[in-house]
Amino acid sequence: MIKKTDLLTIDELSESDIFSILKKAMLLTNKDWQIEGNPLVANLFFEDSTRTHYSFSSAENSLGLKILEFNAGVSSVNKGESLYDTCKTFESIGAKALVIRHKKNEYYKELEGINIPIINAGDGTGNHPTQCLLDLLTIYQEFGSFKGLNVLIVGDISHSRVAHSDLKALTMLGATVKYSGPKQYCDDLDRYVELDEGIKAADVVMLLRIQYERDEKLKDLLPEEYLAKYGLTIERYNMMKGKAIIMHPAPVNRGVEIDSSLVEAPKSRIFKQMENGVQVRKAVLIRSLCK
Ligand code: CP
Repeated sequence: MIKKTDLLTIDELSESDIFSILKKAMLLTNKDWQIEGNPLVANLFFEDSTRTHYSFSSAENSLGLKILEFNAGVSSVNKGESLYDTCKTFESIGAKALVIRHKKNEYYKELEGINIPIINAGDGTGNHPTQCLLDLLTIYQEFGSFKGLNVLIVGDISHSRVAHSDLKALTMLGATVKYSGPKQYCDDLDRYVELDEGIKAADVVMLLRIQYERDEKLKDLLPEEYLAKYGLTIERYNMMKGKAIIMHPAPVNRGVEIDSSLVEAPKSRIFKQMENGVQVRKAVLIRSLCK
């Protein structure tokens, strides 16, 4: 049973819930906000992360929360403790919410008996709801609406929890989502378009990293071959519409899915997405912790 204070997948949020989080995030950009009582929050990252982990830490610090930073590598996970027992332990020692990233898809289905809010910071290839919300905020700030926008997602879609979450939300909000990149890593060929055609029509070109850690076979692709065939080269950048933007959830494989010189090009919003991540995560923590 999903608690109202959880955020496990983007599907749980209605259009009005999404706009309420985006508006709160925008308000928090210019407003100091403290959560009363400074509750303890545990960040449980069982899988590597830089942006999500530390933007949650940054958001928690700025809301005045006390933080328990869990390091799975030196924990009793190494003695065989289950995910459920680890979470129940943090609940027992005073955490008032859990932020969890785990490589197992839908890990949260094992956590039915946890009575404090769970915020999903990414599960395997399944869901990444806070990344989705920060992507939505970045697009909304740029275009003021989602209706009628063309979003092209390029790259390793089948392994991407970002693509899976963004597709659901963007479609619900009225955008059209197309896919491009290697066909063998596209899990919905009905959405597939040739890259140059897709780039010319897109308002948002969202690039995805090749997830070498999820598929050994991907290591056979040479970076320069990948860039020429499926990546955003300078030539393709020049085909983009005047007001179109580049997004990428990062980490970026520079010179593979994007020419390194384009990561900070005028059309790139890659670092803006990271800034927005802190505000969105503040809004999500407030939703989970404040009545
Ligand atoms: N975008 C994202 O989830 O990055 P991290 O894996 O570094 O958290």
